[in-house]
Amino acid sequence: MRKKIIAGNWKMNKNFEEAMALTSEIVNMLKDEYKGSAETVLIPPFVYINAVSRMLEGNISSGAQNCSNHASGAYTGEISGDMLKTIGAKYVIIGHSERRQYFAEHNDWLAKKINAALLSKLFPIYCVGETLQERENNIHFDVLNSQISEGLFHLSNEQMKNVVIAYEPVWAIGTGKTASTEQAQEVHAFIRNLVKEKFGSDISENLTIQYGGSVKPDNAVELFSAPDIDGALVGGAALQSRTFVDIVKAMK
Ligand code: PGA
Repeated sequence: MRKKIIAGNWKMNKNFEEAMALTSEIVNMLKDEYKGSAETVLIPPFVYINAVSRMLEGNISSGAQNCSNHASGAYTGEISGDMLKTIGAKYVIIGHSERRQYFAEHNDWLAKKINAALLSKLFPIYCVGETLQERENNIHFDVLNSQISEGLFHLSNEQMKNVVIAYEPVWAIGTGKTASTEQAQEVHAFIRNLVKEKFGSDISENLTIQYGGSVKPDNAVELFSAPDIDGALVGGAALQSRTFVDIVKAMK
């Protein structure tokens, strides 16, 4: 059975007290209100991961927003996969469009981060997605093809089993513009097929592909009804317990 995952990426938001309050609200609400099978993942800034992880119960995990491509050493300001693993993180986002855009992270660099994450036994959530211009120029499938092949195709089948992909069209992130369910489903099916051609149908059928980009409680039900959408990577709506829990509840 393909795993469903709803993850909340807090980005660079919340002070410590707010982060603790948000975590305890989400944990309590899910305990009372959620009977579905999706895994919930809280992805706070690095400095809160340890404290957040200690508060989690049930089918809720934590993750990090980024990690170094090195295992250890003289890399001032960097955080390694092992550090994250040993403070409780299970997942790590690799290649979020904000990292690609503002920190010049490219596919070859991200491929190394995927390796580092897997070596530390973290599950990478590898983000891909086209810009508005790329979609308007009708080159979005080429862009996605390069992001996926350059970022992931060096992996073995055993490694690929531990990777989650998130399709996040850049034009839908934080803009209030969601891809229509048809647009998202079309891309998700394309991604699953790419993975199938490279790794075989066992891996592609079990691959979790999340959608991200202005997911809200009122569009989540429809998005999750598509056959190849296996969850969401949520930004803005993950900063408020009620809206985030309602998105989780949309996944039966
Ligand atoms: P958004 O962000 O939900 O605020 O659009 C999604 C993301 O960046 O993962």
